[in-house]
Amino acid sequence: MTMPPDIVDAISRIEAQTFVRQVDWFSEIGSTNDYALSIASDLAVITPRLVWADRQQAGRGRSGNSWWAGGGALTFSLLIERQSWSDRWTLVSLVTGLAIAEALSEFVPQLPVQVKWPNDVYLAGKKVCGILIEPAPGNTGRLVVGIGINVANSFRTAPADLQQTATALCDQLPRSPSTAEVLLSVLQHWERERIDYCANPDSLLTRWTPRCYLSGKRVQLTAGEASVSGLCRGIDDDGCLLIETASGLERRIAGTVRVQ
Ligand code: BTN
Repeated sequence: MTMPPDIVDAISRIEAQTFVRQVDWFSEIGSTNDYALSIASDLAVITPRLVWADRQQAGRGRSGNSWWAGGGALTFSLLIERQSWSDRWTLVSLVTGLAIAEALSEFVPQLPVQVKWPNDVYLAGKKVCGILIEPAPGNTGRLVVGIGINVANSFRTAPADLQQTATALCDQLPRSPSTAEVLLSVLQHWERERIDYCANPDSLLTRWTPRCYLSGKRVQLTAGEASVSGLCRGIDDDGCLLIETASGLERRIAGTVRVQ
């Protein structure tokens, strides 16, 4: 398929104005994460590489869930080297969520844009973005960071339960930005956050905390068979979630959180 002129223009701006060195664009694909994982072992593949698709037929979410998004969503994956994140690459998810929240805030400055640990982004109290980070197979030291942002895929006519929990930029604005505009802004913020984080890892907590969606809410964290409930007290320096329970403060490095 011939590439639409706005995409050609967006790709040249991405290559000129961001850290991305190569772009793959698809009008339709199974999953951008699957494609990035499939090329990750080839060391001739130059990174950072952006895999961007208008539509995914088999988008994947965290915990083995599928990720469905109608036309107008921004779906992409970045293939990166772990070492570009220094030795603390496990915090990539927190930094990525923060960078996206900051980018989206510029489009909707009047509304709260928050991060839900470990790495969802919430707009006006509803999920607007999900992130799926996966290590590349083998010992390549590469990582795939998959991002789905609801931009022009309105939830206004979605089933009522979905309308309660998810939103898109276009649902909060009189005019939706294009997916290309949002992508460019996210990439620029992401690189800025990466540089700040690598130079001063301790500053992450200071910047993340004011955007924490869970702080002060009653939550239940589930990890495998185990679960812990209590009042969320934000995160610590290591990016662990802090939950105040009847028996004291618990810290958790991973899990799925539900607000009670
Ligand atoms: C989640 O909230 O569960 C994470 C969703 C991640 C979805 C994105 S869309 C682009 C990339 N490709 C995928 O198959 N998944 C991620």
